[in-house]
Amino acid sequence: MMHSTRIVPFVLAVTLALVGCGKKSEGTQAPAALDPADGPADIVIPEIAASTDIEAGQKLFASKGCSACHKVGGGKLVGPDLQGVTARRKPKWIARMILHPDQMIQKDETARGLLKVHMTAMPVQNVDAAAELPALFAFLKSHEQ
Ligand code: HEC
Repeated sequence: MMHSTRIVPFVLAVTLALVGCGKKSEGTQAPAALDPADGPADIVIPEIAASTDIEAGQKLFASKGCSACHKVGGGKLVGPDLQGVTARRKPKWIARMILHPDQMIQKDETARGLLKVHMTAMPVQNVDAAAELPALFAFLKSHEQ
């Protein structure tokens, strides 16, 4: 009887100490290395699935309105020529720019620089991150060189 009443607070103290330790080590962990070339981490994007459907991407490029402002080879239109964009930018940056151009021109230096040159803000085109972005990316990737 005496023992069990002493053991309970002891177990509690150990548990609390362990929980505390867990928290502490979490706090002292080095933050995940953030690459500024990926764009601002607080512009949240999902994991982008891989796609090789270039043809679907080409169709989306027209149906989503991208081709009204972008050429892929042949120079600037309203926005930059997207020929080689997958070589000059990281995939996550491109995904952030396609999904959230409004946030990018507020928070990302590169996007801000593009806005200065092109003097038009790319509008949000409501690209579906799961169903459309992978194919659009595959299309752009096929024009990397
Ligand atoms: C109304 C014109 C317009 C439309 C429509 C548009 N964009 Fe843009 N886009 C721009 C402009 C202008 C920029 C440069 C950044 C800025 O000024 O906002 C840009 C930048 C980009 C960039 C970065 C280019 C670089 O050189 O880094 C990518 C990638 C891009 N657009 C893809 C797309 C895709 C894909 C679509 C269709 C879903 C699309 N854009 C629709 C105007 C447009």
